[in-house]
Amino acid sequence: MRFPKYKLIELTKITDGRGNLTFIEAERHIPFKIKRIYFIYDVPRDQIRGSHAHKKLHQFIIPINGSFTIALDDGIRGIKKYHLMKPNVGLYIAPMIWREFNNFSDDAVCLCIVSEFYKNNDYIRNYEDFIKMVKKHV
Ligand code: TYD
Repeated sequence: MRFPKYKLIELTKITDGRGNLTFIEAERHIPFKIKRIYFIYDVPRDQIRGSHAHKKLHQFIIPINGSFTIALDDGIRGIKKYHLMKPNVGLYIAPMIWREFNNFSDDAVCLCIVSEFYKNNDYIRNYEDFIKMVKKHV
């Protein structure tokens, strides 16, 4: 399975008279082993989350409830925006992609499944530093 730097992934939805069920298997539906899960919720409408890139961390994001927008920037090709709103459609993001989350609906729950434990030194929080690091590797 070859993955680009970011990609929408549609997960299986099993529907019957009792409702829907969706599942994610590490290294099958998403291209990494899962080390951590966290979720973001009760975000005021005017707030932006993220605004950073990761050096090594892979991430898969699912709008478990509600909706929000994610803007991605690889520092080369410009910005690509995704509006996530279906709990069975998530967004995979590879390392070295700048991301910003906004436009959260009041009921939004943003589930983040990631490949690393929380490590402050994996974060690139300054956009100019991010661009410098991208240019070094081109
Ligand atoms: P932050 O990285 O600012 O959230 P986001 O980028 O998703 O908007 O994280 C907010 C705070 O929570 C910050 O002090 C770091 C802490 N934190 C943890 O302790 N563990 C975690 O797994 C995460 C994601 C954040």
